[in-house]
Formats: sequence, structure tokens, C-alpha cells
Amino acid sequence: MTNLTETREVLKNYLKARIPLVVIRSMERNRCADVLASLAGEFRQMPFYIHTRTEGLKQLSDGMLVSEDASLPAAIDYATNLIKRTEYVNFVFTDVEELDDESPTSRHFAELARLAEAHAGTIIVLSEKPVWTGLGRLGMSVTLDLPDADEMYSVIAGLVDQYRGQVQIDWDAEDVRAAAGILSGVTETEAMNVLASLIAGGTLTRDKLRELSEYKDRILGDLAGIERIRLSEDYRVGGLKNLRTWLSKRERLMIADYSHTKVSPPRGVLLVGVPGCGKSLSAKAIASDWNLPLYRLDMAAVLGMYVGQSESRLREALETADRVAPCVLWIDEIEKALASGGDGGTSRRLIGQFLFWLQESTSRVFMVATANDISSLPPELTRKGRFDEIFFVDLPDPADRAEILRMYFTSICNFDLPPDLEGRLVQATDSFSGAEIRAVVDEIGLTMYADDRHAMYDDATLLQFFSNTIPFAHSNAEDLDEIRAWGRTRAVPAGTEQLYDATPRGTTVPGRRIVMT
Ligand SMILES: Nc1ncnc2c1ncn2[C@@H]1O[C@H](COP(=O)(O)OP(=O)(O)OP(=O)(O)O)[C@@H](O)[C@H]1O
Ligand SMILES: [Mg+2]
Repeated sequence: MTNLTETREVLKNYLKARIPLVVIRSMERNRCADVLASLAGEFRQMPFYIHTRTEGLKQLSDGMLVSEDASLPAAIDYATNLIKRTEYVNFVFTDVEELDDESPTSRHFAELARLAEAHAGTIIVLSEKPVWTGLGRLGMSVTLDLPDADEMYSVIAGLVDQYRGQVQIDWDAEDVRAAAGILSGVTETEAMNVLASLIAGGTLTRDKLRELSEYKDRILGDLAGIERIRLSEDYRVGGLKNLRTWLSKRERLMIADYSHTKVSPPRGVLLVGVPGCGKSLSAKAIASDWNLPLYRLDMAAVLGMYVGQSESRLREALETADRVAPCVLWIDEIEKALASGGDGGTSRRLIGQFLFWLQESTSRVFMVATANDISSLPPELTRKGRFDEIFFVDLPDPADRAEILRMYFTSICNFDLPPDLEGRLVQATDSFSGAEIRAVVDEIGLTMYADDRHAMYDDATLLQFFSNTIPFAHSNAEDLDEIRAWGRTRAVPAGTEQLYDATPRGTTVPGRRIVMT
């Protein structure tokens, strides 16, 4: 990575060394031009000229036009003549096409560079792509990367501060820092355009931070291999306190600037456990709480129809994730594509590819992988150090069920549960998953509105709704035992810490049987 300051230093040395051809790799003409203008200010004894397609050839110091003909050939002619007559001149060419391959233009530039070498001149070319090797060999190149977090911060802060007082701006330094994080990966001009559009809307409230990532999606265009999940509501998770506490400590790391330290961004979590207890919900809640965009990588879709396609699809998907970072990348049912059984060759290579990315990628992609079928999870994936943590999501305990019940009665039935009824419902929902509780409350809500009732049902009727449901934990007790046995040895409990007890299944509260590794 080369940031603006480093690029400037390198360029300064190239100019001092009178390198005949300097290629600046960048897609940001204006930023490059600013750096060059400031360097021209330092090297006052040497003249600098800049050519752009629209404005023609000008002196960099005062913007004076030096030739009536704005065309590139005219600029090359002018440069050729001047370099022959004068030493220590510098010419900057900003939008030259066909330099990436051998072409008449690239050969012209090679000639010009040779001439410059004989007369201590320097030809500077701005180019998005690498130039033809025959040309590149005549000089040196430097890459100006997109603005880093610090630079983006000052760009945004500059613009925001300019409009404080004129429009309602609620953003403080921390919000600006978050915005800078979200806009990483776009050019300075694009960032300014996005910000200006938001400010033009008349208010810059905190919730506008969410819109930033949508703008960014539009700028980046095609999202190959991953799908953007729009978050519509607030996703509240009941229980899972351990997981939630763990997550809250990582939030800041997704946007904080620690580029000067050896700290690496969080990688993500693997959530395994009992169906319907909030694994997928947690993926959405994390993105929503952290104000980050959520993308889903569909592992089933990665498995292409043709041999060899899966790998390129996975590569494409992971590259896209790196580009859209910072983000939450949700991989649902990760075991589907990486199953240890099945077509050995392909899944082996996919696992290797995935683990390599997990280890090597430095972008701020927080992965939330979920798995249902633990028996087919490849052991490589669950080894320590792959994910930051593996959490086991168990059935909600009584306190969690109370929280989930309250939550859904309030939001779906518009009814606040009185404590005594809550206690009875907690008992009635023994062994229920969050999804099962939600389904019953949904049904209550539905029936209530269908009956056109505005009052709540009486307690007995309410309890009846719950006793009509046989929870998965009862109908699939063996599956549950297997999942739990797995979780006990390989994962950290996502819920409140409470040691697993030996309560035989089918009896009262299943509880959270946890053994810390
Ligand atoms: N802990 C919880 N708090 C609140 N709601 C929950 C909780 N667990 C489940 N739900 C409700 O159940 C729905 C389904 O849960 P979710 O999709 O997260 O389950 P899952 O663990 O991913 O299950 P599966 O293994 O079947 O994919 C959620 O959208 C939510 O409405
Ligand atoms: Mg799920």
C-alpha cells in the first residue's frame, strides 16, 4: 500500500534522480495532479507542463496555456522541441490511451522518454493500467492507492465542516471516522460526490451512514458472487448474551483506525447449534447494529454445474467481499459446499481456498458463518484460529424465553405481558426455540386480528396456543443430543454461561450445558 505521503516522497526522489519516464498508476487524476502541483512548487527551478485532453498543454505553476492546439500529438511535438532545447523540463500527460500495449502512441512515448534521458528531462504519465513493458522499462513507476482512512477522514471532515451551520449536521468526529471507513475503496472524487449528494438532501443525520454503503454499491457496480441483503427492521435478538457481549467488543475494531499497529481486523464467527435459535437472525443483527452493509454468500450457488467452476466462483465472491469492505459477510449453511463427504476433490480445494482467504485477507470483512449439520463440517474449519470464535447456539433458557416472549408480544400483539402470565408462558415454552416461540406469537397475532378482537385472549386460551406446539427438541431429541455433544467440546456457548447439567432429556428445563474448553 502506498498512501499519498509515501507516493509524494517516491515521486520527489524520482524527480531529483531525473528518471526519464515516471508512470503513476492511479485512477485519480485530480489527486495525482495535486501532488504534482505541490512538487512543482518545491522544484521551482524546473518548469512543469501538464497536458489534459480537454484543456490542452499548460504550465503547471500558473495554468497558462502554451499551445493553441489541445491535441496529444501537438503536446508531444511541443515537448520534443522543448526537451531538445532545454534541460530539466518535466511534462505530465494525464489521459493517454493505448499505452498498455505496443501501439504508435506507446512507441512515441518511448522515443520521448529516450530524448528526455539525454536532456535530463522527465516525462510523467498517469495511467490506470500498467504500461507496455517496452515503455515501462525506460523508467520507474509508482502506484497511488485509493485514499486511506486518514485521508478519507480529512476529505469528509473538510466537506462536512464547511456546511455545518448551513444544514443540519449531526455527525461528530466518530461518525466521520465511520463514514471514512465505509467509503474505503472509492476514489476521493467519488467520496466527495456521495457526501455532497447527502448534504444536498438538507440534513446529515446519523442514519444517513447506512445510505453511504448503498451509494458505494452503486459506485462499485456488479457484485459478483455475493448478494446484498437489505436490512429493513431492527433485528432484535433475545438471549445469546455471551455472543452479544463478545460482539460488542469487536464493533469498534471494524471502523477504528489501527493501521499503525499490528492489530488485524476481526475475522468473524462461526455459529453452530440448534435450529431456529437465532443464528441467521444474529447475522442480520450484527450488520444492523454495526451500521454495516450485509452481504450473503450462497454456498450452494458456489457449487457450479461444471468442474472447476466452483473455485472461480468462490474466488470471485471473496474478491467482491474484499472490495465492498467494510461489511458483514454472511455465509449461511457453510457446510453445504464445504462438506467433508461428497465430491472429495472439489470440496477439498474449496476449503483450502476459503481458509487461505480467511487467513490472508486484510480487509474488514466480518464473517458470520452458520452451520446446521455439524456432522458434515470439515474439521479444518473448526480448528482454533480459523474463525475468531466458534459459538454454540442452544435453546433459550427461561430468562431468554422471557425476553423473547416479551419482545414478540409487544411488537406483534401490541401487548405488554404482565409478570405472572410471563412466568406461566416461560414454563409452557420449555424446550421451545426462538423460532417456535415467534411462530406461536405470530399465530396469536394473526388469529387475534382475524377475529377483529382488540383485547388480548385470556390466559387459558393463550396457553392453549403454546401447548398445541411440539417443539423440535422433543420430536428430535436424539438430533438435539448430538448437536449438543458437538457444541460442548468444540464451541463456546452463545448464551448465558451455565454449566451443562446431566438432566436427562424429556424432563424439565434443558438448560445450557456448557463446558468451557
Ligand atoms: N434468540 C432469538 N431472539 C429473537 N428471535 C428469535 C431468536 N431465535 C429465533 N428467533 C426467531 O426465529 C426466526 C428464525 O431464527 P433464525 O433464522 O435465526 O434461526 P437459525 O438459528 O438460523 O435456524 P436454522 O438452523 O434453522 O437456520 C428469527 O427470524 C426470529 O424471528
Ligand atoms: Mg439459519
